[in-house]
Amino acid sequence: MNFNFGIRSKVIAGPGALKELKGIYEQLDCEKPLIITDTFLGTTDLPDRIKEVVPNAEVFSEVEADPKDKHVFKGIEAVKEKNADMLIAIGGGSSIDIAKMSSVLLTNDVTLEEVLDDWDKITKPGIPLITLPTTVGSGSEMTRGALIGDSRTNTKKVIVSDYLAADYTILDPELLNTLPPAVTASTGADALTQGIEGIISTTSNTFSDALHLHAVSLIKKSLRPAVANSSNLEAMGNMQKASAMVGAAMAHSACGAVHAIANTLGGYYKIPHGIACAMLLLPVLKYNAIAVPDKYRSIAKALDISVNGLQDWEVADRLVATIERLLDDVGITQTLSDFGVEENKIGEIAEQSYYHSDNLTNPRKPSIKDVENLIREAF
Ligand SMILES: [Fe+2]
Repeated sequence: MNFNFGIRSKVIAGPGALKELKGIYEQLDCEKPLIITDTFLGTTDLPDRIKEVVPNAEVFSEVEADPKDKHVFKGIEAVKEKNADMLIAIGGGSSIDIAKMSSVLLTNDVTLEEVLDDWDKITKPGIPLITLPTTVGSGSEMTRGALIGDSRTNTKKVIVSDYLAADYTILDPELLNTLPPAVTASTGADALTQGIEGIISTTSNTFSDALHLHAVSLIKKSLRPAVANSSNLEAMGNMQKASAMVGAAMAHSACGAVHAIANTLGGYYKIPHGIACAMLLLPVLKYNAIAVPDKYRSIAKALDISVNGLQDWEVADRLVATIERLLDDVGITQTLSDFGVEENKIGEIAEQSYYHSDNLTNPRKPSIKDVENLIREAF
């Protein structure tokens, strides 16, 4: 099958990589950098650690989890007020996505509503953007997409444009040494899910497979020790790289039914995105097994499962069991009922998930009833 592939963001990785920010800042020849981060990180020493490298940076720390359109408006307001000509996003997907949208909406003569309805309305690059991820899962630091809640429809919308990709991504595991184990686990589960869905998606290609498979292998090796000890620089560094690789590949390979359902659920209930993905991953993996047996073999090998002489169904069973054990070991044992998901909403959520764009690239084509059954299995 024909495909194209490219990675727009430059990656700088390793313990202490933060200090490279100074050289990037000087090279970009900007004068008014603005740090964009969330309300929690704004209270930590992270903004000051950035300012030690770029002393004249100002700070906007009002990003909230699962950002909506109103948060983008606040971000743009701050960028205009500070007259910023460069953005430094520190945090997880929420801060990075607000920075991405603020960057392009500043230079494109278009409203957020117009972009939410038609992302092709973004036709020009934004102001320079540098991302410093402090979680290990969204991949937003390397994607060319953003996830923003649309309050007109109460849904999360994906916006995709080459112009949303960051110019640089700095992966410094020393920035993660205070990450709570539960956040490492849930964001790592998101990266794992995105990696697996990317491999089995109908739009995957050999380049995206290479990145996703290596990322899955790194997550298998490093998620447990990273959850156990956030100061383990090797494990955290591997998780950072895995997340970034998945993000870079995901721009081309897309997700599947897990993300269709998890993103729909996110519009209804407050469930950490990575946990929503983890709860749906096992039922969807069982469901998709008959569609892509060779891909399941490749994923199993990346997870160090011996597949020689096994039937396809045995490979699928071992794959599901291995992932279940990994999620269990890092403390992800929740079900949808733990988050108050109501049985009488399942039909509505199933229908919305069925029509979600992520479902288009799922390798097995489900009916609305199939989606409903997958949700029921996560209770
Ligand atoms: Fe995700």
